[in-house]
Amino acid sequence: MVADEIMSATGNKEVLVRKLDTADLQSVRSFAQGILETEEALHILVNNAGMYGTEEREVSPDGLEITMATNYYGHFLLTNLLLELLKKSAPSRIINVSSAAHLFTRNINIKDLNFEKKSYGAFSAYSQSKLCNILFSLELSKKLRGSGVMVNSLHPGTVSTEIFLKEERTRSLPIKVICHLLNIIVKVAGKDSELGAQTIIHLAVSEKVEQVSGKYFEDCKEVGSSWLAQDKAVAKSLWEISEVDVQLRPSEMYY
Ligand SMILES: NC(=O)c1ccc[n+]([C@@H]2O[C@H](COP(=O)([O-])OP(=O)(O)OC[C@H]3O[C@@H](n4cnc5c(N)ncnc54)[C@H](OP(=O)(O)O)[C@@H]3O)[C@@H](O)[C@H]2O)c1
Repeated sequence: MVADEIMSATGNKEVLVRKLDTADLQSVRSFAQGILETEEALHILVNNAGMYGTEEREVSPDGLEITMATNYYGHFLLTNLLLELLKKSAPSRIINVSSAAHLFTRNINIKDLNFEKKSYGAFSAYSQSKLCNILFSLELSKKLRGSGVMVNSLHPGTVSTEIFLKEERTRSLPIKVICHLLNIIVKVAGKDSELGAQTIIHLAVSEKVEQVSGKYFEDCKEVGSSWLAQDKAVAKSLWEISEVDVQLRPSEMYY
């Protein structure tokens, strides 16, 4: 099990595993509830879970497009549900794992985040979800100014992981081909997972960024994101519609 691997590699025996499906809002709520019931403090939240888009548009149990649900909405709800604890535990940090793939979304229709009207594509869904990770970080950092909770996003680099491998098993030939090519790229040019984790670790623990919030990083350095990802008005609108989409209750708004 992963917990055993972490324990034997680090010597830390206090490793807990909990179940979470970021694509299922009920699962996110149950997971957050468990944390709030057992933990007195929370200093670091890394929203890392992610998937590449499915072959054809699929929806989550809540009717949200599955890539958006997994990569964005789940993290949005989870962060909000844990926000009071993060604020109480300040100094604390939220890290949202995005991707350079966000650069490929040149415009976003806030009223059609779930590809109900516009045509669906696996890469479009992935790219948009990664753009949302950055916009979410931008708006949240504004809301948390002065609270001692820092929130940043990042591109981990090209990392040799399983992310494109899973979709290579799909039936559709174009997606198979794209994923196969992406797989070759990450295998040939990709960093190993240890290197790929460095920017996340930097944002989680480095003193250099203890006062930095609302920024986008790569290779442990602040870098520019797309113009769209820096648009404060879009970030605000995205936040407002996301609250509705994940059915965040007024009593759960801790910012
Ligand atoms: N690899 C790259 O080159 C690259 C580049 C840019 C950004 N990223 C980002 O880096 C992050 C990590 O991806 P990776 O490359 O490490 O891919 P990966 O090896 O496929 O890992 C993805 C992780 O997300 C988890 N996950 C997927 N769907 C989930 C769900 N519905 N609920 C809970 N957990 C879920 C997976 O858990 P299971 O194993 O249990 O399914 C796995 O631990 C993602 O956000 C990805 O977008 C990766």
